[in-house]
Amino acid sequence: MTASNHKETTTEKPNNNNNALDEKDIALMKSYGLGPYAQSIRKLEQEVKDKLSHINQICGVKESDTGLAPPSQWDLVADRQTMQEEQPLQVARCTKIINPNTEDAKYMINVKQIAKFVVGLGEKVAPTDIEEGMRVGVDRNKYQIQIPLPPKIDPSVTMMTVEEKPDVTYSDVGGSKEQIEKIREVVELPLLNPEKFIALGIDPPKGVLLYGPPGTGKTLLARAVANRTDACFIRVIGSELVQKYVGEGARMVRELFQMARSKKACIIFFDEIDAIGGARFDDGAGGDNEVQRTMLEIVNQLDGFDARGNIKVLMATNRPDTLDPALMRPGRLDRKIEFGLPDLEGRTHIFRIHAKSMNCERGIRFELLARLCPNTTGADIRSVCTEAGMFAIRARRKTVTEKDFLQAIDKVVKGYAKFSYVSKYMIFN
Ligand SMILES: Nc1ncnc2c1ncn2[C@@H]1O[C@H](COP(=O)(O)OP(=O)(O)OP(=O)(O)O)[C@@H](O)[C@H]1O
Ligand SMILES: [Mg+2]
Repeated sequence: MTASNHKETTTEKPNNNNNALDEKDIALMKSYGLGPYAQSIRKLEQEVKDKLSHINQICGVKESDTGLAPPSQWDLVADRQTMQEEQPLQVARCTKIINPNTEDAKYMINVKQIAKFVVGLGEKVAPTDIEEGMRVGVDRNKYQIQIPLPPKIDPSVTMMTVEEKPDVTYSDVGGSKEQIEKIREVVELPLLNPEKFIALGIDPPKGVLLYGPPGTGKTLLARAVANRTDACFIRVIGSELVQKYVGEGARMVRELFQMARSKKACIIFFDEIDAIGGARFDDGAGGDNEVQRTMLEIVNQLDGFDARGNIKVLMATNRPDTLDPALMRPGRLDRKIEFGLPDLEGRTHIFRIHAKSMNCERGIRFELLARLCPNTTGADIRSVCTEAGMFAIRARRKTVTEKDFLQAIDKVVKGYAKFSYVSKYMIFN
Protein backbone atom coordinates (compact mmCIF):
# COMPACT_ATOMS: atom_id res chain seq x y z
CA MET A 1 0.00 0.00 0.00
CA THR A 2 2.65 2.44 0.90
CA ALA A 3 4.66 1.42 -2.12
CA SER A 4 1.79 2.07 -4.55
CA ASN A 5 1.12 5.37 -2.85
CA HIS A 6 4.65 6.37 -3.31
CA LYS A 7 4.45 5.46 -6.97
CA GLU A 8 1.44 7.66 -7.49
CA THR A 9 3.06 10.64 -5.94
CA THR A 10 6.14 10.29 -8.14
CA THR A 11 4.11 10.07 -11.35
CA GLU A 12 1.99 13.03 -10.45
CA LYS A 13 4.78 15.40 -9.56
CA PRO A 14 6.05 16.21 -13.11
CA ASN A 15 2.46 16.77 -14.24
CA ASN A 16 2.15 19.50 -11.72
CA ASN A 17 5.29 21.11 -12.97
CA ASN A 18 4.15 21.07 -16.62
CA ASN A 19 0.95 22.78 -15.82
CA ALA A 20 2.74 25.70 -14.35
CA LEU A 21 3.78 27.02 -17.84
CA ASP A 22 1.73 30.04 -18.79
CA GLU A 23 1.86 32.28 -21.84
CA LYS A 24 4.62 34.48 -20.51
CA ASP A 25 6.89 31.50 -20.03
CA ILE A 26 6.20 30.22 -23.51
CA ALA A 27 7.07 33.57 -25.01
CA LEU A 28 10.26 33.59 -22.99
CA MET A 29 11.20 30.10 -24.14
CA LYS A 30 10.59 31.02 -27.74
CA SER A 31 12.98 33.95 -27.51
CA TYR A 32 15.51 31.92 -25.57
CA GLY A 33 18.97 32.15 -27.08
CA LEU A 34 18.02 34.88 -29.56
CA GLY A 35 19.89 38.16 -29.80
CA PRO A 36 18.15 41.40 -28.96
CA TYR A 37 17.71 42.40 -32.61
CA ALA A 38 16.90 38.99 -34.01
CA GLN A 39 13.29 39.80 -34.62
CA SER A 40 13.81 43.10 -36.37
CA ILE A 41 16.59 41.56 -38.49
CA ARG A 42 14.31 38.77 -39.59
CA LYS A 43 11.63 41.26 -40.45
CA LEU A 44 14.06 43.32 -42.47
CA GLU A 45 15.34 40.28 -44.34
CA GLN A 46 11.81 39.37 -45.26
CA GLU A 47 11.21 42.89 -46.51
CA VAL A 48 14.37 42.79 -48.62
CA LYS A 49 13.28 39.48 -50.10
CA ASP A 50 9.87 40.88 -50.92
CA LYS A 51 11.42 43.92 -52.56
CA LEU A 52 13.73 41.73 -54.67
CA SER A 53 10.93 39.56 -55.89
CA HIS A 54 8.94 42.68 -56.65
CA ILE A 55 11.81 44.09 -58.66
CA ASN A 56 12.24 40.82 -60.51
CA GLN A 57 8.57 40.82 -61.30
CA ILE A 58 8.74 44.30 -62.76
CA CYS A 59 11.84 43.46 -64.79
CA GLY A 60 10.22 40.31 -66.01
CA VAL A 61 13.49 38.40 -65.78
CA LYS A 62 14.23 35.85 -63.17
CA GLU A 63 17.62 36.12 -61.61
CA SER A 64 19.75 33.03 -61.77
CA ASP A 65 23.33 32.35 -60.76
CA THR A 66 24.72 32.35 -64.28
CA GLY A 67 22.81 35.39 -65.48
CA LEU A 68 21.34 33.32 -68.32
CA ALA A 69 17.71 32.93 -69.21
CA PRO A 70 16.17 29.58 -68.21
CA PRO A 71 17.01 26.79 -70.66
CA SER A 72 13.40 26.53 -71.77
CA GLN A 73 13.74 29.94 -73.42
CA TRP A 74 16.94 29.17 -75.31
CA ASP A 75 16.81 29.29 -79.08
CA LEU A 76 19.95 27.51 -80.19
CA VAL A 77 19.06 27.37 -83.86
CA ALA A 78 18.56 31.10 -84.20
CA ASP A 79 21.75 31.73 -82.25
CA ARG A 80 23.75 29.56 -84.58
CA GLN A 81 22.30 31.33 -87.56
CA THR A 82 23.21 34.79 -86.30
CA MET A 83 26.68 33.60 -85.49
CA GLN A 84 27.13 32.31 -89.00
CA GLU A 85 25.90 35.55 -90.47
CA GLU A 86 28.38 37.60 -88.43
CA GLN A 87 31.58 36.72 -90.15
CA PRO A 88 34.91 38.19 -89.15
CA LEU A 89 35.63 41.38 -91.06
CA GLN A 90 38.77 42.42 -92.80
CA VAL A 91 40.56 45.63 -91.96
CA ALA A 92 41.03 47.99 -94.89
CA ARG A 93 41.77 51.64 -95.42
CA CYS A 94 39.31 53.90 -97.19
CA THR A 95 41.60 55.82 -99.52
CA LYS A 96 39.14 57.89 -101.51
CA ILE A 97 35.46 58.70 -101.69
CA ILE A 98 34.07 59.03 -105.21
CA ASN A 99 31.11 61.40 -105.60
CA PRO A 100 30.89 62.28 -101.94
CA ASN A 101 27.63 63.68 -100.51
CA THR A 102 25.53 62.15 -103.28
CA GLU A 103 23.25 59.15 -103.52
CA ASP A 104 25.65 56.95 -105.41
CA ALA A 105 28.82 57.59 -103.47
CA LYS A 106 31.46 54.93 -103.91
CA TYR A 107 34.37 54.18 -101.70
CA MET A 108 37.82 53.17 -102.73
CA ILE A 109 39.37 50.81 -100.23
CA ASN A 110 42.78 49.34 -100.00
CA VAL A 111 43.08 45.90 -98.45
CA LYS A 112 46.66 45.42 -97.47
CA GLN A 113 48.56 42.98 -99.67
CA ILE A 114 45.47 41.96 -101.62
CA ALA A 115 44.14 44.65 -103.87
CA LYS A 116 42.18 47.87 -104.15
CA PHE A 117 38.44 47.81 -104.59
CA VAL A 118 35.64 50.26 -105.27
CA VAL A 119 32.78 49.30 -103.02
CA GLY A 120 29.55 50.52 -101.47
CA LEU A 121 28.38 50.82 -97.93
CA GLY A 122 26.89 48.07 -95.80
CA GLU A 123 23.41 48.42 -94.37
CA LYS A 124 24.45 49.48 -90.90
CA VAL A 125 26.79 52.33 -91.85
CA ALA A 126 25.78 55.92 -92.53
CA PRO A 127 27.69 57.85 -95.22
CA THR A 128 28.59 60.54 -92.67
CA ASP A 129 30.54 58.00 -90.60
CA ILE A 130 33.13 57.36 -93.26
CA GLU A 131 35.91 59.78 -94.06
CA GLU A 132 38.85 59.59 -96.36
CA GLY A 133 41.91 57.99 -94.86
CA MET A 134 39.93 56.13 -92.26
CA ARG A 135 40.33 52.51 -91.26
CA VAL A 136 37.23 50.45 -91.88
CA GLY A 137 36.05 46.89 -91.49
CA VAL A 138 34.87 45.20 -94.71
CA ASP A 139 33.18 41.85 -95.19
CA ARG A 140 34.92 39.06 -97.05
CA ASN A 141 32.45 38.48 -99.87
CA LYS A 142 31.49 41.81 -101.38
CA TYR A 143 33.98 43.97 -99.49
CA GLN A 144 31.24 46.32 -98.40
CA ILE A 145 32.15 48.65 -95.61
CA GLN A 146 30.56 47.34 -92.43
CA ILE A 147 31.97 49.40 -89.59
CA PRO A 148 34.24 52.43 -89.19
CA LEU A 149 37.30 51.70 -87.05
CA PRO A 150 39.21 54.05 -84.75
CA PRO A 151 42.69 55.13 -85.85
CA LYS A 152 45.48 52.75 -85.16
CA ILE A 153 47.27 53.75 -81.98
CA ASP A 154 49.93 51.74 -80.28
CA PRO A 155 48.60 50.13 -77.08
CA SER A 156 51.64 51.36 -75.20
CA VAL A 157 50.58 54.90 -76.10
CA THR A 158 46.96 54.41 -75.08
CA MET A 159 48.13 53.05 -71.76
CA MET A 160 49.71 56.40 -70.92
CA THR A 161 46.36 58.02 -70.27
CA VAL A 162 45.80 58.56 -66.59
CA GLU A 163 42.42 57.05 -65.92
CA GLU A 164 42.42 56.87 -62.18
CA LYS A 165 42.82 60.28 -60.68
CA PRO A 166 45.75 60.56 -58.29
CA ASP A 167 44.80 61.45 -54.73
CA VAL A 168 47.00 64.55 -54.54
CA THR A 169 45.28 67.93 -54.43
CA TYR A 170 46.61 71.47 -54.54
CA SER A 171 46.38 71.63 -50.75
CA ASP A 172 48.95 68.83 -50.50
CA VAL A 173 51.54 71.01 -52.19
CA GLY A 174 53.13 73.25 -49.63
CA GLY A 175 54.69 76.62 -50.16
CA SER A 176 54.51 76.92 -53.93
CA LYS A 177 51.60 79.33 -54.16
CA GLU A 178 53.08 81.34 -56.98
CA GLN A 179 53.83 78.23 -59.02
CA ILE A 180 50.35 76.83 -58.49
CA GLU A 181 48.87 80.14 -59.54
CA LYS A 182 50.96 80.26 -62.72
CA ILE A 183 50.20 76.72 -63.76
CA ARG A 184 46.49 77.10 -63.16
CA GLU A 185 46.51 80.20 -65.30
CA VAL A 186 47.84 78.19 -68.21
CA VAL A 187 45.92 74.99 -67.70
CA GLU A 188 42.55 76.08 -66.41
CA LEU A 189 41.92 79.61 -67.61
CA PRO A 190 41.94 78.91 -71.39
CA LEU A 191 39.63 75.95 -70.89
CA LEU A 192 37.20 77.76 -68.62
CA ASN A 193 37.18 81.26 -70.14
CA PRO A 194 38.37 81.05 -73.74
CA GLU A 195 36.47 84.22 -74.62
CA LYS A 196 38.91 86.35 -72.61
CA PHE A 197 41.74 85.35 -74.91
CA ILE A 198 39.65 85.81 -78.03
CA ALA A 199 38.58 89.28 -76.93
CA LEU A 200 42.19 90.31 -76.43
CA GLY A 201 43.29 88.62 -79.61
CA ILE A 202 46.10 86.55 -78.14
CA ASP A 203 46.76 82.86 -78.20
CA PRO A 204 46.71 81.27 -74.79
CA PRO A 205 50.06 79.85 -73.70
CA LYS A 206 50.52 76.37 -75.05
CA GLY A 207 53.10 74.81 -72.86
CA VAL A 208 54.80 75.02 -69.52
CA LEU A 209 58.21 73.89 -68.41
CA LEU A 210 58.60 73.07 -64.73
CA TYR A 211 62.19 73.10 -63.58
CA GLY A 212 64.03 73.13 -60.30
CA PRO A 213 66.17 70.97 -58.03
CA PRO A 214 65.05 67.38 -57.42
CA GLY A 215 62.41 66.90 -54.78
CA THR A 216 60.82 70.32 -54.94
CA GLY A 217 57.41 69.04 -55.95
CA LYS A 218 57.31 69.23 -59.73
CA THR A 219 55.82 65.79 -60.25
CA LEU A 220 53.64 66.36 -57.21
CA LEU A 221 52.11 69.51 -58.69
CA ALA A 222 51.48 67.77 -62.02
CA ARG A 223 49.63 65.06 -60.16
CA ALA A 224 47.53 67.69 -58.43
CA VAL A 225 46.70 69.18 -61.83
CA ALA A 226 45.62 65.74 -63.04
CA ASN A 227 43.43 65.37 -60.01
CA ARG A 228 41.67 68.68 -60.55
CA THR A 229 41.14 68.68 -64.28
CA ASP A 230 38.29 67.11 -66.15
CA ALA A 231 40.36 67.09 -69.31
CA CYS A 232 42.07 63.94 -70.41
CA PHE A 233 45.49 63.69 -68.75
CA ILE A 234 48.29 61.84 -70.51
CA ARG A 235 51.49 61.17 -68.60
CA VAL A 236 54.63 60.28 -70.48
CA ILE A 237 57.93 59.51 -68.90
CA GLY A 238 60.79 60.64 -71.08
CA SER A 239 62.53 57.30 -71.02
CA GLU A 240 59.41 55.54 -72.34
CA LEU A 241 59.96 57.28 -75.63
CA VAL A 242 63.46 55.93 -76.04
CA GLN A 243 63.07 52.96 -78.34
CA LYS A 244 65.34 50.43 -79.85
CA TYR A 245 64.53 50.87 -83.51
CA VAL A 246 64.98 53.90 -85.66
CA GLY A 247 61.82 55.95 -85.98
CA GLU A 248 59.87 54.13 -83.28
CA GLY A 249 60.15 56.93 -80.75
CA ALA A 250 59.07 59.55 -83.26
CA ARG A 251 56.13 57.37 -84.27
CA MET A 252 55.06 57.10 -80.64
CA VAL A 253 55.15 60.87 -80.27
CA ARG A 254 53.03 61.24 -83.40
CA GLU A 255 50.47 58.75 -82.16
CA LEU A 256 50.47 60.41 -78.78
CA PHE A 257 49.51 63.75 -80.25
CA GLN A 258 47.04 62.09 -82.59
CA MET A 259 45.31 60.53 -79.62
CA ALA A 260 45.40 63.83 -77.73
CA ARG A 261 43.89 65.65 -80.68
CA SER A 262 40.94 63.26 -80.75
CA LYS A 263 39.94 64.39 -77.24
CA LYS A 264 38.02 67.53 -76.48
CA ALA A 265 40.67 68.87 -74.13
CA CYS A 266 43.88 67.22 -73.18
CA ILE A 267 46.93 67.77 -71.02
CA ILE A 268 50.14 65.95 -71.86
CA PHE A 269 52.73 65.78 -69.13
CA PHE A 270 56.28 64.79 -70.06
CA ASP A 271 58.17 63.93 -66.89
CA GLU A 272 61.98 63.87 -66.90
CA ILE A 273 62.09 65.37 -70.35
CA ASP A 274 65.89 65.54 -70.25
CA ALA A 275 65.89 61.84 -71.16
CA ILE A 276 65.08 62.82 -74.73
CA GLY A 277 65.26 66.60 -74.83
CA GLY A 278 69.01 66.91 -74.55
CA ALA A 279 70.78 69.43 -76.71
CA ARG A 280 71.85 68.07 -80.07
CA PHE A 281 75.50 67.31 -80.49
CA ASP A 282 77.72 65.48 -82.90
CA ASP A 283 78.73 62.16 -81.41
CA GLY A 284 81.60 61.86 -83.85
CA ALA A 285 80.39 58.54 -85.21
CA GLY A 286 78.65 60.17 -88.12
CA GLY A 287 75.26 58.70 -87.34
CA ASP A 288 72.58 60.90 -85.95
CA ASN A 289 71.03 60.04 -82.71
CA GLU A 290 67.65 58.32 -82.48
CA VAL A 291 66.86 60.15 -79.26
CA GLN A 292 67.38 63.48 -80.97
CA ARG A 293 65.00 62.52 -83.71
CA THR A 294 62.32 61.78 -81.13
CA MET A 295 62.90 65.19 -79.61
CA LEU A 296 62.62 66.85 -83.00
CA GLU A 297 59.30 65.13 -83.55
CA ILE A 298 58.06 66.67 -80.31
CA VAL A 299 59.24 70.06 -81.54
CA ASN A 300 57.40 69.46 -84.78
CA GLN A 301 54.20 68.45 -83.04
CA LEU A 302 54.41 71.41 -80.68
CA ASP A 303 54.68 73.81 -83.57
CA GLY A 304 51.65 72.18 -85.00
CA PHE A 305 51.47 71.98 -88.71
CA ASP A 306 48.19 70.40 -87.76
CA ALA A 307 46.08 72.55 -85.49
CA ARG A 308 46.81 71.65 -81.94
CA GLY A 309 43.36 72.12 -80.55
CA ASN A 310 43.04 72.20 -76.85
CA ILE A 311 46.24 70.41 -76.04
CA LYS A 312 48.39 71.75 -73.23
CA VAL A 313 51.87 70.45 -72.75
CA LEU A 314 53.61 70.31 -69.40
CA MET A 315 57.21 69.26 -69.07
CA ALA A 316 59.27 68.69 -65.96
CA THR A 317 63.01 68.43 -65.58
CA ASN A 318 65.74 69.02 -63.05
CA ARG A 319 68.43 69.73 -65.62
CA PRO A 320 67.09 72.65 -67.64
CA ASP A 321 70.59 73.53 -68.79
CA THR A 322 70.89 70.35 -70.86
CA LEU A 323 67.70 70.89 -72.82
CA ASP A 324 67.80 71.78 -76.47
CA PRO A 325 67.18 75.48 -77.10
CA ALA A 326 64.76 74.61 -79.89
CA LEU A 327 62.46 72.95 -77.42
CA MET A 328 62.55 75.90 -75.09
CA ARG A 329 61.76 78.75 -77.37
CA PRO A 330 58.54 80.72 -76.83
CA GLY A 331 55.74 79.42 -78.98
CA ARG A 332 56.58 75.91 -78.02
CA LEU A 333 56.92 76.24 -74.28
CA ASP A 334 55.76 79.73 -73.45
CA ARG A 335 56.02 79.57 -69.73
CA LYS A 336 58.88 78.44 -67.60
CA ILE A 337 58.13 78.00 -63.95
CA GLU A 338 60.98 77.61 -61.52
CA PHE A 339 60.50 75.50 -58.45
CA GLY A 340 62.95 76.98 -56.02
CA LEU A 341 63.73 75.88 -52.52
CA PRO A 342 60.80 76.60 -50.21
CA ASP A 343 61.15 79.59 -47.89
CA LEU A 344 60.52 79.48 -44.16
CA GLU A 345 56.77 79.77 -44.51
CA GLY A 346 56.72 77.14 -47.21
CA ARG A 347 58.78 74.74 -45.14
CA THR A 348 56.47 75.18 -42.17
CA HIS A 349 53.55 74.44 -44.42
CA ILE A 350 55.20 71.32 -45.83
CA PHE A 351 55.98 70.13 -42.30
CA ARG A 352 52.33 70.59 -41.38
CA ILE A 353 51.17 68.71 -44.49
CA HIS A 354 53.32 65.69 -43.80
CA ALA A 355 52.70 65.70 -40.04
CA LYS A 356 48.95 65.83 -40.56
CA SER A 357 48.74 62.11 -41.19
CA MET A 358 51.12 61.29 -38.35
CA ASN A 359 50.24 60.66 -34.74
CA CYS A 360 52.00 63.68 -33.25
CA GLU A 361 52.27 65.13 -29.82
CA ARG A 362 50.31 68.34 -29.42
CA GLY A 363 51.91 71.73 -29.70
CA ILE A 364 54.91 70.87 -31.84
CA ARG A 365 56.61 74.09 -32.95
CA PHE A 366 56.78 73.45 -36.66
CA GLU A 367 58.10 76.91 -37.32
CA LEU A 368 61.09 76.21 -35.15
CA LEU A 369 61.65 72.95 -37.00
CA ALA A 370 61.43 74.72 -40.34
CA ARG A 371 63.93 77.30 -39.12
CA LEU A 372 66.34 74.51 -38.32
CA CYS A 373 66.40 73.12 -41.84
CA PRO A 374 67.59 75.84 -44.18
CA ASN A 375 68.17 74.99 -47.84
CA THR A 376 66.08 71.86 -47.81
CA THR A 377 63.53 70.65 -50.31
CA GLY A 378 60.08 69.20 -49.79
CA ALA A 379 61.47 65.71 -50.18
CA ASP A 380 63.99 66.35 -47.38
CA ILE A 381 61.25 67.52 -45.07
CA ARG A 382 59.22 64.47 -45.86
CA SER A 383 62.23 62.35 -45.02
CA VAL A 384 62.60 64.21 -41.69
CA CYS A 385 59.02 63.35 -40.82
CA THR A 386 59.54 59.69 -41.66
CA GLU A 387 62.74 59.53 -39.63
CA ALA A 388 60.99 61.16 -36.66
CA GLY A 389 58.43 58.39 -36.85
CA MET A 390 61.21 55.82 -36.91
CA PHE A 391 62.72 57.30 -33.74
CA ALA A 392 59.34 57.01 -32.03
CA ILE A 393 59.02 53.39 -33.10
CA ARG A 394 62.47 52.60 -31.83
CA ALA A 395 61.54 54.07 -28.44
CA ARG A 396 58.30 52.03 -28.47
CA ARG A 397 56.11 55.12 -28.28
CA LYS A 398 52.81 55.60 -30.01
CA THR A 399 53.16 59.34 -30.60
CA VAL A 400 55.90 61.38 -32.19
CA THR A 401 57.39 64.10 -30.02
CA GLU A 402 59.22 67.27 -30.86
CA LYS A 403 62.45 65.69 -29.68
CA ASP A 404 62.06 62.99 -32.31
CA PHE A 405 61.76 65.67 -34.95
CA LEU A 406 64.87 67.43 -33.69
CA GLN A 407 66.83 64.18 -33.76
CA ALA A 408 65.55 63.46 -37.25
CA ILE A 409 66.61 66.89 -38.47
CA ASP A 410 70.05 66.23 -37.09
CA LYS A 411 70.20 62.97 -38.95
CA VAL A 412 68.74 64.05 -42.28
CA VAL A 413 69.95 67.61 -42.67
CA LYS A 414 73.38 67.34 -41.08
CA GLY A 415 74.09 63.64 -41.55
CA TYR A 416 73.13 63.42 -45.17
CA ALA A 417 74.75 66.69 -46.17
CA LYS A 418 77.14 64.71 -48.32
CA PHE A 419 74.28 63.73 -50.59
CA SER A 420 72.85 67.20 -50.84
CA TYR A 421 72.06 67.76 -54.46
CA VAL A 422 70.96 71.34 -54.06
CA SER A 423 74.46 72.75 -54.24
CA LYS A 424 75.22 70.58 -57.26
CA TYR A 425 72.09 71.82 -58.97
CA MET A 426 73.25 75.35 -58.39
CA ILE A 427 76.54 74.54 -60.11
CA PHE A 428 74.80 73.10 -63.19
CA ASN A 429 72.71 76.18 -63.65
N1 LIG B 1 56.02 71.59 -51.96
C1 LIG B 1 55.85 70.35 -51.44
N2 LIG B 1 54.84 70.12 -50.59
C2 LIG B 1 54.66 68.90 -50.05
N3 LIG B 1 55.44 67.85 -50.30
C3 LIG B 1 56.47 68.01 -51.14
C4 LIG B 1 56.72 69.27 -51.75
N4 LIG B 1 57.80 69.15 -52.54
C5 LIG B 1 58.18 67.85 -52.44
N5 LIG B 1 57.41 67.18 -51.59
C6 LIG B 1 57.56 65.75 -51.23
O1 LIG B 1 58.69 65.26 -51.91
C7 LIG B 1 58.34 64.16 -52.72
C8 LIG B 1 59.09 64.20 -54.05
O2 LIG B 1 58.66 65.30 -54.82
P1 LIG B 1 58.53 65.23 -56.41
O3 LIG B 1 58.41 63.83 -56.85
O4 LIG B 1 57.49 66.17 -56.83
O5 LIG B 1 59.95 65.80 -56.82
P2 LIG B 1 60.39 66.31 -58.26
O6 LIG B 1 60.45 67.78 -58.17
O7 LIG B 1 59.55 65.72 -59.29
O8 LIG B 1 61.86 65.75 -58.31
P3 LIG B 1 62.60 65.17 -59.62
O9 LIG B 1 63.10 66.36 -60.34
O10 LIG B 1 63.73 64.38 -59.01
O11 LIG B 1 61.64 64.36 -60.37
C9 LIG B 1 56.86 64.24 -52.93
O12 LIG B 1 56.28 62.99 -53.04
C10 LIG B 1 56.39 64.96 -51.67
O13 LIG B 1 56.08 64.04 -50.67
MG1 LIG C 1 59.76 64.23 -60.78
